[in-house]
Amino acid sequence: MVTKRFLAAVLMVLPFLLSAQELTVNEARFCKGDDPVWSAFAYDDHAWLKVSFDQPWEELGLDQVNGLGWYRLHMVIPSSLKKGKVSAILLDLGAIDDSDETWVNGHSVGKTGTFPEDPGGYSSEWGKRRYYVVDPGWVRWDQENVIAVRVYNYGDPGGFYRGPIRIIKPSLKDFATLSLVAEAGGYKAVLATSVKTAGPLQITVEDVLTGARESSKTQKVNLAAWKEKQLSCPLAPQKRLKVTYADPRFEEVLEAEVCAPYILTPPAPATPRYNGPLVFGVRPGSPVIFRLAFSGDKPMEYAVEGLPEGVILDPEKGVLSGSCAVAGDYPLVFVARNAKGETRAEFTLKVGDQIALTPPMGWNSWNCWALSVSQEKVMASAAALINRGLADYGYAYMNIDDAWEADERTPDGRIQANEKFPDMKGLGDWLHANGLKFGIYSSPGDHTCGGYLGSLDHERLDAEVWNSWGVDYLKYDWCGYSKVFEAGRDKSEAAYIRPYLKMQQFLREQPRDIFYSLCQYGWGRVWEWGAFIDANSWRTSHDINDTWESLYVTGFERQPGLHPYAGPGHWNDPDMLIVGKVGWSSSLRDSRLTPDEQYTHISLWSLLAANMLIGCDIAQIDDFTFNLLCNNEVNAVNQDILGHQAHQDVVEDGMQIWSRDLYDGSYAVGIFNLNEASVPVRLDGALAKIGLGADSVRDLWRQKEIPAGAEYVIPPHGVLYVKVRPSGQADSR
Ligand code: GAL
Repeated sequence: MVTKRFLAAVLMVLPFLLSAQELTVNEARFCKGDDPVWSAFAYDDHAWLKVSFDQPWEELGLDQVNGLGWYRLHMVIPSSLKKGKVSAILLDLGAIDDSDETWVNGHSVGKTGTFPEDPGGYSSEWGKRRYYVVDPGWVRWDQENVIAVRVYNYGDPGGFYRGPIRIIKPSLKDFATLSLVAEAGGYKAVLATSVKTAGPLQITVEDVLTGARESSKTQKVNLAAWKEKQLSCPLAPQKRLKVTYADPRFEEVLEAEVCAPYILTPPAPATPRYNGPLVFGVRPGSPVIFRLAFSGDKPMEYAVEGLPEGVILDPEKGVLSGSCAVAGDYPLVFVARNAKGETRAEFTLKVGDQIALTPPMGWNSWNCWALSVSQEKVMASAAALINRGLADYGYAYMNIDDAWEADERTPDGRIQANEKFPDMKGLGDWLHANGLKFGIYSSPGDHTCGGYLGSLDHERLDAEVWNSWGVDYLKYDWCGYSKVFEAGRDKSEAAYIRPYLKMQQFLREQPRDIFYSLCQYGWGRVWEWGAFIDANSWRTSHDINDTWESLYVTGFERQPGLHPYAGPGHWNDPDMLIVGKVGWSSSLRDSRLTPDEQYTHISLWSLLAANMLIGCDIAQIDDFTFNLLCNNEVNAVNQDILGHQAHQDVVEDGMQIWSRDLYDGSYAVGIFNLNEASVPVRLDGALAKIGLGADSVRDLWRQKEIPAGAEYVIPPHGVLYVKVRPSGQADSR
């Protein structure tokens, strides 16, 4: 029990201390007995026994084993151990058998365990590590100091014998942590410390939208070593909670903050508003499947001016179907009408060789249901895509990931769906009738990552089967192909390309457009050849999950430098979205990203011209997630027809600036704060770093103009995402 406690204590503190600057002391003077004057700085101890800290006092040739003894340690404490004006030092005396009280230059700095004369008598704390904080005012900087330690021992062994003691230049963070832990109705502030500490714990609640302070209270904390202070902090939607703790002996303050989900984007107007892409590419003769993406009150009626021959509109659903045999650019005007008014939007249908002129938007089953996906679940999300209005923002692909495949092919080799998908063709037809597109998954290996049948040696037949179901998107996942790759001698770039090229030929033989999504985690520098084999996107990194670490690595570490490879028809794919209810199983949870991290995620994917494939159960989408996914201005950057992916322009002090130019002459700029604390940013200063000047800019999340000459506080892991029209340019809005 005691040993466990000791270990726990050591483990808890060690990580804090590794970076600290320190002084070690190996020797002291020792005397058995007890006299209060031995604590004084000036006491003359030169006749005491010289001892080192590797022997219990039984080994010092002393007859008496139990009882009291004193250690006096002399040392010069350099002022280099001072941090700033006010800074304590931390004594790490290690563990002492059994109880001790310690003085520095005559000032008592701590006591662990109790002595026989104490109320309740003696109690041992032999296994506990001693950390004592020493007030800077008690230290004789750059001169001799005396640490006096009164020790009571009972039984073998006694005193100091576990190696040198340390004097550490600490920061508050070396021995205390402040965190916010979710609990019902809000959060619990937890201050944990390995030393005695006292100071104010401040709790502030701010409105997220206005930044106004709504309440602030301070509690005086007085904590003994190894204790915790917990305080419940209720948190309402749209509020940010900040807690700070200051021990006046240290300059730095401990801080933690969280915010409740907050919606920045104003609701869409009731009148029709077009939110979809401005172009759509289809090959001559291929089915046109396109849903007009208008938000606004329903019912809505649709009309399209300029439709080429063969393309027809369902005026109630706003769905284009049919096909166009003749290549060319067809300028169309979409018209949407509801009880509140009418809106017209210009659009170009590009009938030609290139598809995927803007990054694909839609859904994929993996991040929510993983192997538990079923036709029913896909249908529920597809229906919600329409009913909850996400289809009004351009989300159109409904992609089934792994686990749809039956265990065996038919005797003539045709791949079949398993019992969870009773009617693939029916599913495809339903999606198409609603202007949605149908996606599927396979592997160039004989098996997929989830252990289902892959397409190896059946590529042509599989492409034909998918065509017969109406498949519009194939995610082709390397995974099971590793076996083939490892077995072969060829490890050149060509060996990476070969399986993908093979399937590409069979997809192109089908009489429909099939978006070709390569999934091989960025191996073989896929971005350099993906476009040449006619792929429409390629994964640039390993699987993402809903943690900040994963988002950070995937978004901020793997994507820099890839911008030259993206463009209309071929996109870098940093993996599917991790907002909303996800879980990679049949049981789902809310994304573990904080609300600020979710804003960062969607802003970055918008800047990266990334595939926008929702990874959550759409049937369970909440208002916050809807707001993240359905901000028409944020999505317009993602769908910008230039297709210029953002580049990372500035990396400085935990801040990053990414920007991309847009077809209307403006720039989208994301200023990301990757630090653990809020950072105030003067916007014009940040823009100047990337050569942009502007008096006012558009805040894309809030959808309003904001002055550039002001300071904005960017929360930890959060973003300020703006659209900048450089000075001198007329505003076309
Ligand atoms: C992984 C892939 C995931 C998912 C999974 C299915 O290789 O990266 O996105 O498709 O396989 O088993």
